[in-house]
Order: sequence, then structure tokens, then C-alpha cells
Amino acid sequence: MFVKNFLNKMKLHFIHEEEFMQSINYTYINYHKEVHETILYKLADLMKDKNLLNNLRQDYFINSIRQYLLKHIDEEDRQIGIFLKTIT
Ligand SMILES: [Fe+2]
Repeated sequence: MFVKNFLNKMKLHFIHEEEFMQSINYTYINYHKEVHETILYKLADLMKDKNLLNNLRQDYFINSIRQYLLKHIDEEDRQIGIFLKTIT
């Protein structure tokens, strides 16, 4: 349940972020949306492992999410901030 709720909240966050990028005419929005899709695909793939719902595997799942998200924030999300500074 935790995993599914987390995934749904992440999807909602990505939707909001994509709406924001659209609102500022972000140059690399298509690439950024592809990265979001890739992350969601990887997480959905992890969820296929029924053992992940077992508490013993939740740490593995959380660590995987952390790696995907930290990399995304550091590489792609940061670029939105840099772009925003160029237009304001
Ligand atoms: Fe993003």
C-alpha cells in the first residue's frame, strides 16, 4: 500500500511539474517529460516484484526510488531553475 501510494503521489508531482514547465515554455520540456516517464516505468517495473510489498524488501525499493529521484533532481529539475533565471 505504501509503495502504491508513493507512486501515485510521485505521478501527481510530475504532472504538476510538467504543467509548470508548460507555463514557462521550458525549452527542454519534452526531454524532461521523457525522463519522468522513464522513472515511472522503472518504479512500476520494481512493483511487479511481489516481494517488494514485503517489509523486508521495502528498504530496497526506497533506496531505488531515492537514487532515481536524487539523480533526476540534480540533473533535470535543477535545469528548470536555471532556465527560470534566464527569463525573469
Ligand atoms: Fe522533474
